[in-house]
Amino acid sequence: MLILPVTRLAQVADAGAIAEMSRSYIEQGLGWSWREGRVLRAIRDPATNVAVMTESEAIVGFGIMQYWEETAHLALFAVRPSYRNRGLGSRLVNWLEQPARVAGIERVRVEARADNAKAIAFYGRLGFVPMRTVSGYYGGVVDAVQLQKQLVTRP
Ligand SMILES: CC(C)(COP(=O)(O)OP(=O)(O)OC[C@H]1O[C@@H](n2cnc3c(N)ncnc32)[C@H](O)[C@@H]1OP(=O)(O)O)[C@@H](O)C(=O)NCCC(=O)NCCS
Repeated sequence: MLILPVTRLAQVADAGAIAEMSRSYIEQGLGWSWREGRVLRAIRDPATNVAVMTESEAIVGFGIMQYWEETAHLALFAVRPSYRNRGLGSRLVNWLEQPARVAGIERVRVEARADNAKAIAFYGRLGFVPMRTVSGYYGGVVDAVQLQKQLVTRP
């Protein structure tokens, strides 16, 4: 029987593991800005959802989405290497998008490292469109591609 990882909101105890995943899979070569304290602030922020996917209590993927008036922002997102290419990342993006849709938020934005072709293709498949390049977005050293997905088009 195939057991799918479970998605839930992160708890305070998850902050350290999420920060470690950010350092290993997202911020490599950039310094480490999403340390445990910053992740904890996101978990406690009422306008942010920090979601984790777990299997046997271990975190295999996570995402951090901020919900503003008209725009939601996917701030941080990763799946552990051995769990990739199974559709888990796509499911987690959809899970985080759901509250934005219910709230009538118009669009979701995300940045990916300009050298991260895999992530840019991943977001493109999910309906995100590249909008612009942000020079030095990551620590002043790596450019970002900002992508946007329109959820609602107002008349
Ligand atoms: C980008 C990332 C989050 C994608 O996570 P993922 O769980 O592999 O995502 P999915 O499995 O939904 O999709 C990945 C690919 O697997 C394919 N796939 C999905 N379900 C599949 C399945 N059941 N069998 C085979 N392939 C499948 C998808 O078509 C997709 O192909 P694509 O990359 O050509 O678009 C992951 O690679 C990652 O963590 N990368 C490092 C961190 C990062 O780049 N984060 C994002 C920028 S901040």
